[in-house]
Amino acid sequence: MLPQELIRKKRDKQELSFDEIKTFINGVTEGSIADCQIGAMTMAIYLNGLSKAETTALTLNMRDSGDVLHWDLDAPVADKHSSGGVGDKVSLMLAPILAACGLYVPMISGRGLGHTGGTLDKLESIPNYQTCPGNEIFKETVKEVGCAIIGQTGNLAPADKKIYAVRDVSATVESIPLITASILSKKLAAGLDYLIMDLKCGNGAFMGSIEDARTLARSIVNVANAAGTNTKALLTDMNQVLGYTAGNALEVMETIEYLQNVNVNPRLHAITKSLASHLLVQAKIFSDLKAAQIAVQKSIDSGAALEKFAKMVAKLGGPADFVEKARDYLPCSELKLPVFAEREGYVKAMDTRALGLSIIELKGGRTSPEQSIDHATGYSSFCQIGDYVDASTPLAFVHARTEDDYEKAKAALLADIKIGDIAPMIGKTVFEVIE
Ligand code: URA
Repeated sequence: MLPQELIRKKRDKQELSFDEIKTFINGVTEGSIADCQIGAMTMAIYLNGLSKAETTALTLNMRDSGDVLHWDLDAPVADKHSSGGVGDKVSLMLAPILAACGLYVPMISGRGLGHTGGTLDKLESIPNYQTCPGNEIFKETVKEVGCAIIGQTGNLAPADKKIYAVRDVSATVESIPLITASILSKKLAAGLDYLIMDLKCGNGAFMGSIEDARTLARSIVNVANAAGTNTKALLTDMNQVLGYTAGNALEVMETIEYLQNVNVNPRLHAITKSLASHLLVQAKIFSDLKAAQIAVQKSIDSGAALEKFAKMVAKLGGPADFVEKARDYLPCSELKLPVFAEREGYVKAMDTRALGLSIIELKGGRTSPEQSIDHATGYSSFCQIGDYVDASTPLAFVHARTEDDYEKAKAALLADIKIGDIAPMIGKTVFEVIE
């Protein structure tokens, strides 16, 4: 069937069959379907939606557009995907924790764009860490260590890459079926048995409202399960910076301290522990959440998760003694200066998105995919909603290269963190579990 006939069908609100979707995706992959046709089809989908069967067909065909990894291992293969936020370093601690608890975790991550940070950028602050080691080293690392966090290899779901590039410039990113197929095609190509989604909601997330996050979560959980990968989703809070740091090398340092059980941020711990224990129960490593939570805590207390992190870094090219000497290895900015609130009181709210964008001003984030970034800059000792701040308690420390950059970051912190007289109610960190 001609591509324009398939587009016409979707434009006229008719259901596409599995084979019709396959024809379209094969054309995208081979290059016989033009970008304008991809744009027309994605707009028709944006406007008219897809049924669950169509979304599943799109996901499976996009997954099969390139390599699909197969694992022959003695335990389940599992991963997490986050919809992204500010200070979201959960992947860095979660992968080694899960590996220490008996799962294999081939984690394929992305770079930061706009207000959100990316796991790959964080890992690239480690000298010589290979984020694109090739499939053989990736597989070897997963097998030997239990976890490996790398970037998307060239031939993993290539149809998604082409379609996403068109969606990005044709106002069709915000479509639940297209987002579902895009995220899942890459995750399913990694050959997972189990997946957990961390869908963030709040003023620092892509999904501002819990209703929108719930709709996306339900779509992803339904389609992933129909496609044969057992999947759950947690809806978690992104109305403030997650953890005490935001900025690449600073977040790696927070990860190491977390895995050393030092300076553990309670909200970060709640989300990490919750994702880990749900996934361990899903994968039948433990029969109930309580037992899984105990195992997760033990993996941190015993140093087993830290050891997995150290081995993963070494196997992927980083220093063998990285964990022992992380402060020596991680890049460091010239300035580390505090910012104090203009009045004392309780931190009552944050404009988390604006705070994420302020990291771009520090060159620690990017506005277009090809931009390089400064791994050293960002924020540490970040205040949390409910903290009392005064002349001796900073809102955060700014890590900057120049006085000018420090002043810009200071202005952002003062504008985007709201102080009140009354201690605010502390909301939930994990809102909901979607099974
Ligand atoms: N992330 C993806 O990988 N794809 C989308 O469509 C949106 C977010």
